[in-house]
Amino acid sequence: MAKKTVADIDVKGKKVIMRCDFNVPLDADCNITSDDRIVKALPTIKTILDGGGSLILMSHLGRPKGQRNEKMSLAPVAKRLSELLGIDVALAPDCVGDETKAMAAALQDGQVLLLENLRFNPQETIKDKAAKEDAQLRQAKDEFAKQLADMADIYVDDAFGTAHRDNASMYTVAQMMGDKPKVAGFLIEKELKFLGETLKAPERPFVAILGGAKVSDKIGVIENLLDKVDAIVIGGAMAYTFFKAQGKQIGKSLCEDDFVDKATQLLGQAKEAGCEVVLPVDSVVAQEVKAGAANEVAGENIADGWLGLDIGPESSKLFADKLAGAKTVVWNGPMGVFEMAPFDEGTKAVALSVAEATKGGAKSIVGGGDSASAVKKLGLVEKISHISTGGGASLEFLEGKQFVCLEILDEK
Ligand code: 3PG
Repeated sequence: MAKKTVADIDVKGKKVIMRCDFNVPLDADCNITSDDRIVKALPTIKTILDGGGSLILMSHLGRPKGQRNEKMSLAPVAKRLSELLGIDVALAPDCVGDETKAMAAALQDGQVLLLENLRFNPQETIKDKAAKEDAQLRQAKDEFAKQLADMADIYVDDAFGTAHRDNASMYTVAQMMGDKPKVAGFLIEKELKFLGETLKAPERPFVAILGGAKVSDKIGVIENLLDKVDAIVIGGAMAYTFFKAQGKQIGKSLCEDDFVDKATQLLGQAKEAGCEVVLPVDSVVAQEVKAGAANEVAGENIADGWLGLDIGPESSKLFADKLAGAKTVVWNGPMGVFEMAPFDEGTKAVALSVAEATKGGAKSIVGGGDSASAVKKLGLVEKISHISTGGGASLEFLEGKQFVCLEILDEK
């Protein structure tokens, strides 16, 4: 059933607490390298402000594991939002507590307050499954969520990128709102519409390209995609776990040893499901992870003391071939250390291949901050069918998973 959106409610004179996904990529100096997720939240933000409401925005950034960590402060986001909106966006010192509560209470219509990183508080990421089994965890999560909910009259969820999580701000806050309105933002509405329509009837061949450093997360995703796609192309650090599973030499490349058996199992499952797994045939290797580090191209085995930092030129060609005939393409995650030249070449090549496949008639969906930022950097935004603000969320959605945080929102 369709969910209510901000278009269905009156926000005049109301305080709206809105969960966004401002988990934007930052460089070493905490500069935002892609403001895509902020820009895409603007339609909902502006609608609320133009409608005469005030806004309390909340988000996580990174995985600070319940500890304050200045490197993961939302200060750069507050600054960027102020620039984009042309008004001052204040940053609260925390997401809960007396000072934050007072700042929220003092908000006037048309004003915006951004709460500090939700994940500086351990309660935010308590999983509901764990809370079910432990009364203390349940109480901690509920109390934290209630403090957030009590600051507002209306709850808006526009954090598509985090829709696969049952974090307190995503789910428990909505529960704590009681009879107060709980609605979706326009970004969520748009993402669900696009991804939903694609999933209902994917034109084949359906090819998924996966990369990035969140190896263990992606292995789970691969498992779920195996029987849904025709081929999975794998680049980025996770490829080396598969290399190890295949008995190849990986030097000192990133590898999750705990997942080597899983990788072996996945290769077997893929074979059974008739899903082709395409791994790199070469890598750009270096002896250190450093921009401009001396590098060379290695084949499928990497010598001791070297580590793979990008897919090699032959792999880029191979991946382009696999994408050439595709009719549906999903891409999530960079092929190498994309933020450091020259280890960004593989990701750029894949971005161009996805754009080329789209030109050839494929419906393409790009998800994940780094992949989206590669597409943006190359000026290919218009050449991709849909750039999702969700990484894991877009893939889990494509797997057909239900998101509890969306189910709890008010029906039309
Ligand atoms: C993402 O970047 O995929 C979302 O912001 C969710 O982040 P998480 O994987 O740390 O929950």
